[in-house]
Amino acid sequence: MIDIRSDTVTKPSDEMRDVISRAEVGDDVFGEDPNVNELQLSVAKLFGKESALYVPSGTMANQVSINAHTQPGNEVICEAGCHLYNYESGAPALLSGVMLRTIEGVMGSITAEQVEANIRPTNAHFAQTTLIALENTHNRAGGTIFPIEQIKEISQVAKKHNIKMHLDGARLMNAVVATAVEAAEWASYFDSVSICLSKGLGAPVGSVVAGTKGFIERAHRYRKIYGGGMRQAGLLAAAGKYALENNVERLSDDHSNARTFAEGIASLEGINIELDWVQTNIIMIDIDESLGSAADWILDLAEAGIAILSTSPQRLRAVFHLDVSSEETADALTKFCDVHEIRMKKVGIAV
Ligand SMILES: Cc1ncc(COP(=O)(O)O)c(C=O)c1O
Repeated sequence: MIDIRSDTVTKPSDEMRDVISRAEVGDDVFGEDPNVNELQLSVAKLFGKESALYVPSGTMANQVSINAHTQPGNEVICEAGCHLYNYESGAPALLSGVMLRTIEGVMGSITAEQVEANIRPTNAHFAQTTLIALENTHNRAGGTIFPIEQIKEISQVAKKHNIKMHLDGARLMNAVVATAVEAAEWASYFDSVSICLSKGLGAPVGSVVAGTKGFIERAHRYRKIYGGGMRQAGLLAAAGKYALENNVERLSDDHSNARTFAEGIASLEGINIELDWVQTNIIMIDIDESLGSAADWILDLAEAGIAILSTSPQRLRAVFHLDVSSEETADALTKFCDVHEIRMKKVGIAV
């Protein structure tokens, strides 16, 4: 089975397992795990921040950040399709007591004008806007890259209004590799930045969030409150370190596999892909209703040996990652075309 459901499905390589098996550990709740400490230091350095914190997941990275930046009753501005609004179980309301003010973006990006128009006045009637949370690359928009100029302009608006900025950088290294804009430059416009080690980078578990020392102290407290304090976490952190040292540059292979696949199927009848949106490792594939639903396609593709997910009734999402080689990409492309032919016949369209 070629699994293009998500880049979270990657499994640790033999070399990574080797590193895990030899990792020195200590009690990280006591701050004594050498691999966790080294990982935190290296991510802080990578992002040009004072400090960093290892957390079990991207969701926890976002949620400790929101809590550390806000007070209950505050409002957080974010893009309508973002992960922390759509896929984190209402956690900002539950854990931080904040409201989210969503803005409809284009390819997952919003503008400084939109942000400024949505900041609440400082008047007793209104919730106070204290945080702007952006996502780069943007998952639901298909791995699109937030233009750096737009981020810069939003950060100027944020400064003017004394509002903090958080970046959900679950796939920030994909943006780094695709643009040659360095991680520290992306991060320089934000008060906090998260990164996931368990997506395209191929570690089994873990994310890191970086920011000022004071911010990380608060985030550390929330990590404990949320039950995210782990003991001999160095086994996992060692895999994270290995991922950052070995699996960043190769993300460009995933990007070129995604492009090959997208270009190979974009001209099939009834298949619609915005090729401009294929900027990194994710492809959104819209299926014309005449060819059945995304659910029909998922079943037929599974039979052909491709595991894929849908994000809406007519939309499939394909994600390329380190466990899908260029040969498997070519194979997946052939299989997708075969399934297209099968579905055309099923619905009575001559091929
Ligand atoms: C952009 C983004 N942020 C955060 C997350 C959450 O990561 P996790 O599944 O590790 O909680 C994801 C997961 O897919 C994501 O795509």
